[in-house]
Amino acid sequence: MIKFKYTPSKLIDESLYQEKIEEARSYVARAQQDDFGGWVDLPKDYDRDEFARIKAAAEKINSDSDYLVCIGIGGSYLGHRAVIEALGGEKGRTKILYTGNSLSPRMLQKVVAELGDKDFSVNVISKSGTTTEPAVAFRIFKQMLINKYGEEEAAKRIYATTDANKGALHDEAAAKGYEMFVVPDNIGGRYSVLTVVGLLAIAVAGIDIDKLMDGALEERAALISDGGAAAEYAAMRNILLEKGYDIEILANFEPQFVQFNEWWKQLFGESEGKEGKGIYPASVVDSTDLHSMGQYIQEGRRALFETFVEVSAEYDGVKVPEFAENLDGLKYLEGKEMDYINKTANAATREAHMAGGVPVLEVVMPDIDERSLGGLIYFFEMSCALSGFTLGVNPFNQPGVEAYKNRMFELLGKPGYEK
Ligand code: PA5
Repeated sequence: MIKFKYTPSKLIDESLYQEKIEEARSYVARAQQDDFGGWVDLPKDYDRDEFARIKAAAEKINSDSDYLVCIGIGGSYLGHRAVIEALGGEKGRTKILYTGNSLSPRMLQKVVAELGDKDFSVNVISKSGTTTEPAVAFRIFKQMLINKYGEEEAAKRIYATTDANKGALHDEAAAKGYEMFVVPDNIGGRYSVLTVVGLLAIAVAGIDIDKLMDGALEERAALISDGGAAAEYAAMRNILLEKGYDIEILANFEPQFVQFNEWWKQLFGESEGKEGKGIYPASVVDSTDLHSMGQYIQEGRRALFETFVEVSAEYDGVKVPEFAENLDGLKYLEGKEMDYINKTANAATREAHMAGGVPVLEVVMPDIDERSLGGLIYFFEMSCALSGFTLGVNPFNQPGVEAYKNRMFELLGKPGYEK
């Protein structure tokens, strides 16, 4: 289970905190009943037949492909990339490549070059089926598949994850006979990592998706009646915002979490940043970033608070070697586990930043494994929904994302978007 901690200070009025927790709690049912609240009961109600189909597809891909090219943007790729990288990357034959998450020709060429003449399949993920970035990339990799394998075999190597009934991708997949997976109607992109949107790539990477779902289910049990630790975190974020702390930095001490931070930023940024409101989500991976952003966090403008993601379990086996001499002055660390040093750096950073006037929150996960990560994902999803409702916004829409698209379509001359 995920735990939430904070250090009491004169900044936090305990009775106000309790009031805010009560308010956040009251939104659990609202999230569950929302048209886009399908993620709330997903760990309990997910489609077991589809799960079996995901596993079968993952097995086939591992048997015939050196690479799976995952094409998607935003909620259609951040979640699975976060999970795969947090758990140390692909375990089997098939490596995952990500594309369609930008419009950069250089990045596209890089993926094409990496594929070389290796065998590959494509998972194109787009709920709307019309998003420009993945749609353009899909054309390129579809053409490569056809050139390499011919039309018929290419169609067997394309997995389309999209809407059940509509959209260009749905229509093409139906016409060409691609294996199709359905993005549930009641789950938005940034809450969709535990649906097929994320699970196919995660399964292809050799990660146990049953354990991932078990972790989410266990966390759901802890949060579903009264929001539990998620309501506390949501309440605290809103209190800090009201006190003028409008930037939150998610901090962890594990470089494998770089992409997890990206997923978290989308989740909170897209859910809360609207109507002129919202905490700006930022992130660091320490101790790396203590040597770049540490100065600002310690002494810069006092508008930020930090949420540290911590891991309870110890990771033993990498020790500082012993030497007869002490030329580097590291004798005091000889024989110490790196994990102990890393955790000590984490504790020291929290203390230093708190002393520098940065409110520090802690989210503690049991370990870095499938179960814990499933729990962490569910915890943040629930926290985000409760926090958004407490803030007074709809945490499930993203009306602002259309603005750049409309202007881009106008400039690119898309029919129907002329000035
Ligand atoms: O969270 C969201 O809703 C967005 O990030 C979408 O996932 C993203 O814009 C991609 O949309 P689509 O899956 O329709 O291509």
